[in-house]
Amino acid sequence: MIELNQVSLEINGNHILEDISFTWNSNETICLLGKNGSGKTSLALLIAGILSPDSGEIKIDGKPLEEVDEIDLRKNIGIIFQDPDNQFITQDVESEIAFGLENFNIPEDEMQKIVEETITDFGLVEIRHRNPFILSGGEKQITAIASILSMNTKFIIFDEVTTFLDNPYQEKIHQIWASQKGKKGLIIITQNFEEVYYADRLLLMENGKIIFDGKTDEVLNRGIIATDGIILRKLLKKEGIEIERYKKPDDVVDEILKYANSKKH
Ligand SMILES: Nc1ncnc2c1ncn2[C@@H]1O[C@H](COP(=O)(O)OP(=O)(O)O)[C@@H](O)[C@H]1O
Ligand SMILES: [Mg+2]
Repeated sequence: MIELNQVSLEINGNHILEDISFTWNSNETICLLGKNGSGKTSLALLIAGILSPDSGEIKIDGKPLEEVDEIDLRKNIGIIFQDPDNQFITQDVESEIAFGLENFNIPEDEMQKIVEETITDFGLVEIRHRNPFILSGGEKQITAIASILSMNTKFIIFDEVTTFLDNPYQEKIHQIWASQKGKKGLIIITQNFEEVYYADRLLLMENGKIIFDGKTDEVLNRGIIATDGIILRKLLKKEGIEIERYKKPDDVVDEILKYANSKKH
């Protein structure tokens, strides 16, 4: 379990995150929503131990994050970003998968086995010897995700990983989420509200604060999101009615906000 207790972050005197408290269980899928600049990536970097909070505490299985050594941290939490180029270190896909594992003191033969399984499972056989930097956007992102998943961490954060991808690769990533759901703690940061369906719980951020924390079903049952989501669109399409993919992500955030406020009063 990961716990955040009144966590705040300042950069150059600006309050980036303020008084963030929540827990994240290792079998729970959370969708983190919010407008651009609301603090989602900053929060992800704190949880992954890449940034340190100015105040408050983050604990993993009861232990303060700053007391966890780097290797243990990487064994516990993986993070994947929107732009996988930031993540690649080696010159070919195969080494990229092996790289993360090399820090973990796994016997060589076992490591080889994990690399082979990962390459097969993620459909990377044909590109295993290519340079990750020259792959297509989708191939890059699948390689980045495969290399993190090969490490078998307890928790994974996906920070807008599908944003720039074509549909087939988005679907591939959705399948990965579906297969990992319940087995690991997942945080899905997204601007695509159709991806909310993969989560048990929604956290909504605004101006560095969490302003809504609730179960996905609760929000869906209110009709929020569903009116813009894929299920309704498919049903309507059967009836010969085509609707836009979604209006604008910000409009949907506003809808959830209205709901969050209505609950407060
Ligand atoms: N390295 C940085 N230096 C200064 N300001 C930053 C830095 N990183 C993020 N910010 C600011 O922090 C706020 C939150 O950014 P971010 O966490 O990237 O939000 P999101 O991921 O929700 O778009 C924004 O106002 C952004 O301008
Ligand atoms: Mg971001």
